[in-house]
Amino acid sequence: MEKNIKNILEQEAFTKEDPVTMLRSEGIERTLLFQKSSEIKEKYIGNKVWFRGLIEFSNICGKDCLYCGIRKGNKNLKRYNLSDEEILDAARFAYNSRYGSIALQSGELESPAVTDRIENLLHRIKELSGGELGVTLSVGEQKPEIYKKWYDAGAHRYLLRVESTSKTLYNKIHPNNKKHDFQRRLDCLKSLQDIGYQTGTGVMIGLPFQTLEDLAGDLIFMRDFDIDMCGMGPYIEHADTPLIIHADKLLPLKERFDLTLKMIAIIRIMMKDINIVAATALQAIDPIGREKAVKIGANILMPNITPGRYRDSYKLYDNKPCTDDSAEDCQSCLEARISLADAEVVYNLYDRP
Ligand code: 5AD
Ligand code: FES
Repeated sequence: MEKNIKNILEQEAFTKEDPVTMLRSEGIERTLLFQKSSEIKEKYIGNKVWFRGLIEFSNICGKDCLYCGIRKGNKNLKRYNLSDEEILDAARFAYNSRYGSIALQSGELESPAVTDRIENLLHRIKELSGGELGVTLSVGEQKPEIYKKWYDAGAHRYLLRVESTSKTLYNKIHPNNKKHDFQRRLDCLKSLQDIGYQTGTGVMIGLPFQTLEDLAGDLIFMRDFDIDMCGMGPYIEHADTPLIIHADKLLPLKERFDLTLKMIAIIRIMMKDINIVAATALQAIDPIGREKAVKIGANILMPNITPGRYRDSYKLYDNKPCTDDSAEDCQSCLEARISLADAEVVYNLYDRP
C-alpha cells in the first residue's frame, strides 16, 4: 500500500518513491507538505533570507543547450561582456549595501583569458571588501586545476546546475556531443566538492519529457551527493531556442510553478540546513513567486545587480522579470517583498552561524 503524506513526513529517511508521492500531493496533503518544510526552515535556519548580489557579467556562451536563450546558436541577441571596472563597481555596490556576498555568472567559456580574468577579478573583489565579500562563481564546466586556481584566489562557493540527473533527459535537452557531456558535468561537480567549494547544484522543473520520477531522482541525487546549496527553478520556454518545438507538451506555467515549490519544500525536508535559492524564474510566473518560495523553505535571494543596460540581453527564458530596473530598485523592492513573506533580511554575514 502506498504511504500517505503524513506517514512520509514522520520519517527521518526517504525512499526513492517518497518524493514522487510528495510531488503528487494536492489539497490538504500539499498543505501538510508546505507546513512541514516551513517548520524545518524555521527550526534550522530561522525565518531569514540572505542576499547574494547577482552579476551577470557576460552573455557570451560557447555552448548550445537546447533550452537556453543565450546559447551560442541564438543570433537574435546582442552579446555583451562587462568591463572589469563595471564588475568591480557592481561588487562595490553589493559591499556598500551590506550584502554578504555576490555571485558572478556568465555563459560557459573555457580559455586561458577567461581563467586569468576571473582570477584577477577575485583578487580585486577581495581587496575592495577587505576580504569580507563572499564570492560565488557560476561560470560552468572547467578543468579541476582551474577550479582550484579560483578557489585559491578567494571564490568559496560554486553553482553548477546539473539541469537534470536523468542521463536520458539530459541528452534530450542538450546537443549530443563532447561539449555537452552528462558525465563531465557530474565530474565537475565532484571536483568542485573535492577542492572544498561549498557546492551548489539544481535542476529545471517542468521540462518537456520530464516525469515525476525524474524529479524524485534529482532530489535523491542532491541528497546523496550531499550538496551545500540548491538552486532550481521552473523551465520557461524561450522562442529562439530549439526546445520551443516541444512547447505543446509542457505543463501549464502554474503547474510548473507549483511543482517547483514542492521541489523546494521536499529538498528542505530532506536536507534541513542547506542554502536554497528562491530562483528568479519563479517571479517570471508569479509576481510574488520568490516570496512564496521563501515561506516554504528557501533562504537565499539573488538580487540582480548587473548594470541595468545589460540586463535585457541576459534572457535565459522569455518574460524574465526586472530587466529594466536598477540595482537600487531591486534592493528596496526585494526588502518590501521579504517582509511580506514575514521573513527578515540578514546583512553583512556571508556565512550563516
Ligand atoms: N528556463 C528556465 N531556466 C533556464 N536556464 C537556462 N535556460 C532556462 C530556461 N529556458 C537556467 C539553467 C542554468 C541557469 C543559469 O539558468 O538551469 O543553469
Ligand atoms: Fe550556455 Fe548552456 S547555453 S551553458
